[in-house]
Amino acid sequence: MITYLESARQFQLDTPRASYVLALADEGFLCHVYWGKRIAPQDLTDLMRLGEAPFVPSQNERERASFMDCAPFEYPAAGTGDYREPAFVMETPDGGRTCDLRYVSHRIYSGKYNSAVLPHTWGNGCETLEITMQDAPSGLTVRLSYTVFEGLDAVIRSAVIENETAQDVTLRRVLSASVDLDDDRFEMISLYGSWARERQMQRVPLHHGKQRIDSMRGESSHQYSPFFALVRPETTEQTGEAYGFTLIYSGNFTAQAELTQFCQTRAQIGIQPEDFAWLLQSDGCRFDVPEAVLVYSDEGLGGMSRTFHKLFTDHLIRSKYRYAERPVLINNWEATYFDFSLEKLCGIAEEAARLGIELFVLDDGWFGRRDSDNCSLGDWTPDQRKLPGGLKPLTDHITGKGMRFGLWFEPEMISPDSDLFRAHPDYAIGIEGRPRTQSRAQYVLDYSRREVRDAVWEQMKKILDSAPISYIKWDMNRQLTEVPRAELWHKYMLGVYDLMERLVTGYPDILLENCSGGGARFDAGMLYYSPQIWASDDTDAKERLRIQYGASLFMPPAAIGSHVSVCPNHATGRNTPFATRANVAMNGTFGYELNVASLSDDEKAQIPEQIARWHSISHLIREGAQYRLANPFAPSGFAAQANADYDAWMYISRDRTDALLTYVQITAEANMKSRRIKLAGLDPEMTYRFALDGTEHTKTGAYLMQCGLLIRNLWGDMTSVQIRLKATAE
Ligand code: GLA
Repeated sequence: MITYLESARQFQLDTPRASYVLALADEGFLCHVYWGKRIAPQDLTDLMRLGEAPFVPSQNERERASFMDCAPFEYPAAGTGDYREPAFVMETPDGGRTCDLRYVSHRIYSGKYNSAVLPHTWGNGCETLEITMQDAPSGLTVRLSYTVFEGLDAVIRSAVIENETAQDVTLRRVLSASVDLDDDRFEMISLYGSWARERQMQRVPLHHGKQRIDSMRGESSHQYSPFFALVRPETTEQTGEAYGFTLIYSGNFTAQAELTQFCQTRAQIGIQPEDFAWLLQSDGCRFDVPEAVLVYSDEGLGGMSRTFHKLFTDHLIRSKYRYAERPVLINNWEATYFDFSLEKLCGIAEEAARLGIELFVLDDGWFGRRDSDNCSLGDWTPDQRKLPGGLKPLTDHITGKGMRFGLWFEPEMISPDSDLFRAHPDYAIGIEGRPRTQSRAQYVLDYSRREVRDAVWEQMKKILDSAPISYIKWDMNRQLTEVPRAELWHKYMLGVYDLMERLVTGYPDILLENCSGGGARFDAGMLYYSPQIWASDDTDAKERLRIQYGASLFMPPAAIGSHVSVCPNHATGRNTPFATRANVAMNGTFGYELNVASLSDDEKAQIPEQIARWHSISHLIREGAQYRLANPFAPSGFAAQANADYDAWMYISRDRTDALLTYVQITAEANMKSRRIKLAGLDPEMTYRFALDGTEHTKTGAYLMQCGLLIRNLWGDMTSVQIRLKATAE
């Protein structure tokens, strides 16, 4: 997969449909050569255009700065004439920030480097190119890593910074990837949003200058996701080039594209450099840079997303649930909020069990004296007023009904009104002499301190060992403020990862779902610990079409936490049919978040069928390939496919014999003919059997993809159909 062409001093990483090429230029500069559709190994170094004026420095020392400012560098540093955005900045004790990284050595090996402190991709069938660079005057070393996994059009980039010199240096900027693409014909797709409105897609042409999304909040955030794609103006869901970038990290990030004076595009992603500082002490200290995932697709956005999905499912998620059937859960949050008693919970659980629901999740409000969100975070002991006798009577009841039990925690937080805070006010992040800012009446624990993490972990372990807990929802409901030292941002994340590691290794059978006020930590870093992440506190089926579409651009659908809730919806007040709510929630993890007792008989009657259907299709969502057939973000972009009137998507098994189509009519219109939906991803040669409008049909894959299915005009907004297609020998 990785070759070195000695004559051209060129490295080439080949994946099934893509090649990523870099080379050593004069004087040991490491330059980007090519990234795109696969090309047979050959000397491509002309593409660096180093022969054009301004010339290579060694031949034209007079114009060195001009050369530095346009050469396509793979890991640009600062201070020697490249005035574009650097990937790497360090500060020496004298305050200087100049660094000049040059090639020292390289090796190509099977396997990859795995950080001991950061989430990372893993597994067999991969090869790595490691290039060691050094700043000769200071002696600082940067080891760049490029890994490719068999069968996947992705390059995983990361770096290790090593200080084997005699002086301390401060790292100021250590991005994970920087790529100098050779042209400017790009549009940038990114995801913006807010609480309950996460992952809205925007697609805009690049302009000269820098366009950036980022987070300074201490988490990847509701506002922007650590993901972007550069696509061609003509790229659609199924055709054209797409370059996708994401970060396996959950803290502050930056992601940007810079269109330069020579109409080239520098694309970058990494830890947010703003307010970043990391003291790298002398004599061998190291810093691990988070992994970035770079995906190339010439099969449109869909191809790009499917590569992310497969890579993350096969080589990032560790949970035993990544391929396994997950229990259908019911969560009590929207059913009761803080207002529950043992009796009330037992009532919901009993009815849920009767309808076939398999896991009961007790959300916020079970500990301390938490009747509202004003207190008790940090006091992880059951509230005896609501749960006399602790969790046992409840779990006995639930397991007695044949259900499993799950529990909510918010381990990183502390309420000012809590025993933990009264005993250890210094545990909360803050700055001596300044008031702390409250958010949701809470502070954030200083997870950079081991004793703070231990204090929470001891309490959590006690609970986990006291009851049959098979699922945990790990929530994080506020962002960081009054951060006393720049390095705390990253140390905080390392602390969070440490505690999650203890949880998943200590209790490997627990199904962990991450959450952060809905979807503020919906990032690849979290997938390393939890196979699913709550996508949004907005459970409205119509809004979920957009949120789940946006999320699926880079995250596996089986990781997208999605539930059926009651109507009028608690976030929007909208009414949608119960059947459609389920069809939409099946484009994710599928579960319920409501009081079953409050449902109509008709709705209740649908639940056993929905659960049975879910279990017959959920393998397609976990392991199959997703094809989005429409884009609910009309009318921007995708002229040919954009359509806010409907949405449609498919899942297809890896052998293409089994498929599922879901179609949602978002807005009903009078006197409309049926809508022709062309399927995708099927085997054109296979014949598929399916039922539509009560009649059995058999059609070839070619027919279904080229001619399509006619979906009749449905009655009402947010109505939907789900169609299963199976290959037949006929
Ligand atoms: C966050 C989560 C919700 C719920 C509440 C509980 O908002 O996203 O699902 O758990 O916290 O306080």
